[in-house]
Amino acid sequence: MRSHFLTLISVLVLSMIGVGCVVSAPDVPQGSDQSVFEGRKVWTTFCSSCHGPSGNGGRGPSVQEIEKKYVNPEDVLLIISKGRNGMPAFEERLTKEEIESVYSYIREVL
Ligand code: HEC
Repeated sequence: MRSHFLTLISVLVLSMIGVGCVVSAPDVPQGSDQSVFEGRKVWTTFCSSCHGPSGNGGRGPSVQEIEKKYVNPEDVLLIISKGRNGMPAFEERLTKEEIESVYSYIREVL
């Protein structure tokens, strides 16, 4: 009985550590363009709640392979600015530079 209890506790602790790992968005590699660092801030403030900290999806779809889905980067910038269905528009809340930097972060880090 006691060993079952210990197993249960270990499972709980391990799963909490596991959850902890995905709570923050991945770091930007040293030496990256400044805009990628800016993009991470925009991402954690405005996007990760729906798309998941690592961009693998949640309320919104995964954006990890976004550059493969949309060959033209303008299409992605447009979705972020204007919104689409459940995706809110950000043109009033973010500058063009912030939208471009968050896309750099998605493309280069996520
Ligand atoms: C309220 C939740 C929510 C927030 C916040 C949000 N998104 Fe979305 N996003 C969605 C949903 C839902 C979709 C799917 C829209 C559709 O089906 O047309 C989406 C779609 C997208 C797409 C297109 C994905 C594809 O595969 O076509 C991109 C790119 C995107 N979001 C980026 C962002 C970025 C960047 C931010 C932050 C500036 C952000 N999203 C914030 C919910 C959200």
